[in-house]
Amino acid sequence: MEKSLRPFVFINAATSADGKISTVERRQTRISGKEDFERVDSLRAGSDAIMVGVGTVLADDPSLTVKAGARRAARARAGKDANPLRVVVDSRARTPPNAEVLCKGEGRRIIAVSELANADGERVAELGKRAEVLVCGGSGAAESGAVESGAAESGAAGGGGGGGGKVDLGKLLARLRQRGVERLLVEGGATLNWSLISQGLVDEIFVYVGNLILGGEDAPTLVDGAGFVAGAGVVKLELLSAERLGEGVLLKWRVVSEGEREKVRGKEGSAAQSGRKA
Ligand SMILES: NC(=O)c1ccc[n+]([C@@H]2O[C@H](COP(=O)([O-])OP(=O)(O)OC[C@H]3O[C@@H](n4cnc5c(N)ncnc54)[C@H](OP(=O)(O)O)[C@@H]3O)[C@@H](O)[C@H]2O)c1
Repeated sequence: MEKSLRPFVFINAATSADGKISTVERRQTRISGKEDFERVDSLRAGSDAIMVGVGTVLADDPSLTVKAGARRAARARAGKDANPLRVVVDSRARTPPNAEVLCKGEGRRIIAVSELANADGERVAELGKRAEVLVCGGSGAAESGAVESGAAESGAAGGGGGGGGKVDLGKLLARLRQRGVERLLVEGGATLNWSLISQGLVDEIFVYVGNLILGGEDAPTLVDGAGFVAGAGVVKLELLSAERLGEGVLLKWRVVSEGEREKVRGKEGSAAQSGRKA
């Protein structure tokens, strides 16, 4: 997908030293401290929209609001809503109507559903009282969008470009961009992170690595999903910075795009050829 057709997308997450984002029973755990809390609040305040998967809503019930009054006031002075647009990726409209993300704080909300959700008109109508319900692909059958948006191209085993009844993330991002969203902060979880990354829809990843071990082979990690097969489509990152923050480390990564990797492969190929000629 052309970068200009979607917002700048960045993921922020906190992991344990062993790469888990929550405990094995998928319960939210305090991984970072006060300094990181402030950093995340500032990231939220500087974003046009914040996105999560419905798994995170069901597990953690986050409000995704900007906590500091001064930051909300600064947004208001700039003519923005106190809180960024909050977006839940939720194919089947499973977000509870009393979820914090729908009930707490001012601002607009979008529940992005797939065509499958329309089967339950009552639930969609209930959510429609508190949020805009946006249908984004996902008729249930595998769609051509899955290939177009990269999961199959990148060698990922699955990933959900709207096939299999999931929300078509490429379509959703394009629609957010059309509505003026330029900076989109993604706050998890593991399944949504995989779909976005495997479809080439992420620009940067910020990871706070905390000073604890959570363990558990079924505990969610930064990126779960089907995973890449060896050699095909593995996503490369460029380290932008690594700094100590509180009792942990903040890593900032840039995602190297497929286009950039092609160029490097092309250069390596011609260097090898001219080396052979010499
Ligand atoms: N430490 C951190 O920074 C952090 C941050 C956030 C979350 N978490 C943790 O992460 C866990 C939740 O992660 P999760 O992986 O279970 O859930 P998730 O990634 O938040 O949500 C995944 C769900 O989104 C829906 N979805 C719809 N279309 C999709 C698409 N195209 N691609 C991917 N998902 C799509 C699917 O449910 P439907 O099919 O029903 O639509 C899917 O199961 C919790 O334990 C939470 O505590 C940690």
